[in-house]
Amino acid sequence: MNARPPLRVAVTGASGQIGYALVFRIASGELLGAGQPLILHLVEIPAALPALRGVRMELEDCAFPELRDIVTTDDLGAGFRDVDLAFLVGAKPRGAGMERSDLLLQNTDIFKTQGRALNEHATSETRVLVVGNPANTNALVAQRHAPDLPARNFTAMTRLDHNRALAKVADKLQQPVSLLRRLCVWGNHSGTQYPDLSHALVDGRPLLESLDADWVEKEFIPAVAQRGAEIIKVRGASSAASAANAAIQHMRLWRENTPAGDWTSMAVPSDGSYGIPEGLVYSFPVTCSGGRYHIVPDLPISSYSRERMERTRRELEGEKSTALG
Ligand code: NAD
Ligand code: LMR
Repeated sequence: MNARPPLRVAVTGASGQIGYALVFRIASGELLGAGQPLILHLVEIPAALPALRGVRMELEDCAFPELRDIVTTDDLGAGFRDVDLAFLVGAKPRGAGMERSDLLLQNTDIFKTQGRALNEHATSETRVLVVGNPANTNALVAQRHAPDLPARNFTAMTRLDHNRALAKVADKLQQPVSLLRRLCVWGNHSGTQYPDLSHALVDGRPLLESLDADWVEKEFIPAVAQRGAEIIKVRGASSAASAANAAIQHMRLWRENTPAGDWTSMAVPSDGSYGIPEGLVYSFPVTCSGGRYHIVPDLPISSYSRERMERTRRELEGEKSTALG
């Protein structure tokens, strides 16, 4: 039997909180599936290389059968050369009382440099997921600095917000998450995001039939949009395990298919759908098939939804001018 060639998976910020929650799950086969060998490229800044060495030792001590090699480096050429998947996690997290956009000036340079390095060392098949905040605009910055790669390969993570919305609704209805379909998050991974229940189904029936509009507007939307800040307040550090979990789901769905009749949320360069300017990295409901994502077309948009979608679009355009201006 011919062995499959290994896939190469890069993770930046690999010794940070999310990195530590992420790399063991990837190495265990949860991302690519049993029988698919992989090589991890773990990227850090020089000051974090000693800690990264410890992460590497622990990975070795797990004796994961599919993990064929581990590259640990602070060199982006070695980090990104010929990688199939790149998780761009390494960036400063916000502290209590900050907005994610307050990180823009500190983190933008990281994504300029990494975009250029991906342009030079990655391939046109490399799928990129930006997790480091502010994730949408960092993905845009990386994409703009990688002009030779397809723009659609650069995405940012809103699956964590999607999962938060699923969990909140399941709790409210006292129904299992598995009965929920077609939720989506529009726009920015920020306080202006719009978690939208208007197309959602519970056990095949319109979800909004079972929910009070006041609860949706006054409790559900703010709770999902502010969940990251709430975690920081309670835990004293930003979400890590749930972020790593969402990152794996994002990449796995992108490579595989979304379940029949369901969507996921991904921030992707807009193709002009729903009037969102082309190129802006905006979260849409998407389906995935054949290794590609497709923005769900032609959903009816109410005036309430339109107002919310425009608000988060305006914020993203402001971030874009700050980051690229
Ligand atoms: P952390 O501080 O624990 O770890 C960040 C790691 O990145 C550190 O080890 C640091 O050395 C490394 N790093 C910094 N600059 C780097 C660079 N240029 N190249 C490579 N590595 C670099 O932070 P964390 O909790 O792991 O969070 C990482 C980022 O993810 C933050 O920006 C955080 O806000 C964001 N985040 C996003 C989401 C989301 O849903 N999109 C969710 C949670 C956290
Ligand atoms: C989250 O949503 O948990 C992350 O983006 C971290 C943060 O700053 O809120």
